[in-house]
Amino acid sequence: MVQIKIPCSTSNLGPGFDTLGLALNRYLLLSAETDHCASVQITVEGNGKDHIATDESNLVYNAMKVTAAKLGKTLPALHLNINNGVPAYGGLGGSGAAIAGGVFLANELLNGGFSRAELLNVAVSIEGHPDNVSAAIFGGLTINCFDAEKNVHCTSVKIEKELSIVACSPHFQVQTKEARKILPQQVSLKDAVTNIENAASLVAAMMNGNFDALRYVTAERLHEQYRATLIPGYDEVKKAALDAGALSFNISGAGPTVFAFTVSNEQTIADGMVNAFRKNGQRATSEIMSVENSGAVRL
Ligand code: HSE
Repeated sequence: MVQIKIPCSTSNLGPGFDTLGLALNRYLLLSAETDHCASVQITVEGNGKDHIATDESNLVYNAMKVTAAKLGKTLPALHLNINNGVPAYGGLGGSGAAIAGGVFLANELLNGGFSRAELLNVAVSIEGHPDNVSAAIFGGLTINCFDAEKNVHCTSVKIEKELSIVACSPHFQVQTKEARKILPQQVSLKDAVTNIENAASLVAAMMNGNFDALRYVTAERLHEQYRATLIPGYDEVKKAALDAGALSFNISGAGPTVFAFTVSNEQTIADGMVNAFRKNGQRATSEIMSVENSGAVRL
């Protein structure tokens, strides 16, 4: 039996669209048992279990198959168990954790010998962008870029100083595909510069533990103004978080989950966001999380 634990994540962090990821302390637990297995069996426990496929279309299983093929090996019959501790409403890297988890698990199960950097490239070949999968594999704050051959390169920075991430998920789904389709393909130089300067300054602030700078370096111009239209009550929820003392407010990944960075008043911020969603006719659930620096681990 091989068991692994892999964290969920928030991505973009405002200005770092498709580039920055941050691993969080909610996990996907995966186990693979090959003894006495004649066929593939997939069982699911935890959050959103009724919406996770238990046939061979399952995301974790597919990522395992892709990894086995890249290793030149065949996946044996197995019992895959998925225990999902990742909040089920979108935006907290659930599918990224599933893909990265499948890749990591297959490598362990098959004694594949791929490094984390190689596993990241396999995961990106499935997911398309590296932000969530890199955070799930490496942990910490991940900064990603592609070279001319389309290989992804990741730097993971460990965040040692205490920082809270207060996430609030309204109870509806936004398909990532739809949330990407509404984004403009051309942007102004001014907007591009805003994102470049803030993404660079955000990484510096996180590395230096200068969390007060999160008040201004999380502003961005490439995606949130468009995606906010998919989140009823966005402006009021943002105001509630900032009024309650949050340092920042952004959409987590492609949404609809939103999140605030803070070093105090966590519960007040969480309650303020849930109440603001409620006033806009949306039920919502909050999570007070911290950074997970370890990434994927074999248990
Ligand atoms: N960077 C991605 C996006 C994250 O914003 O669309 C969601 O997969």
